[in-house]
Amino acid sequence: MQMHAPLRLLAAASAFAPVLAVTFSLLHAQAVAQAPSPPGPLPAPPAATVPVPAPTRGKLLYDLHCIACHNSQMHWRDARVVRDWPSLITQVRLWQERGRLQWSDDDIAAVARHLNDTIYRLSRPTEPRG
Ligand code: HEC
Repeated sequence: MQMHAPLRLLAAASAFAPVLAVTFSLLHAQAVAQAPSPPGPLPAPPAATVPVPAPTRGKLLYDLHCIACHNSQMHWRDARVVRDWPSLITQVRLWQERGRLQWSDDDIAAVARHLNDTIYRLSRPTEPRG
């Protein structure tokens, strides 16, 4: 085993105290073992978050309870069941009943608004904006 120069010096100086020298060389070996890994690149700071508009309640409800089927049902846009705002409300009410979701009128209106904003684009003269 090769000794580092300073260690050799110290070992010589410690000739009268071999126990001390052994202790030191152990400590030194330990220090060398711990030293070599240089600090790696720091973890990247979290990317600046671009503010995204909060999803509406209607979108959250729809995404949670309804989208599983409709995403894969290509006849969604061709279906003619929904022709106006009242029939959209009726359909949403029926579908949440089928799912036993017990939505309030507000929930039904919120999901209908979401569907209307994203798909149907019906005029809804009696509905308040929002
Ligand atoms: C089990 C699968 C499934 C789930 C869950 C489901 N739907 Fe549907 N939905 C369908 C299918 C299939 C149709 C098309 C029926 C048809 O063609 O007559 C449909 C039709 C509709 C329509 C009428 C489409 C049109 O323009 O004619 C609306 C509105 C609707 N769903 C809303 C919802 C809402 C809101 C939910 C969640 C509460 C929901 N659905 C959950 C399968 C599902």
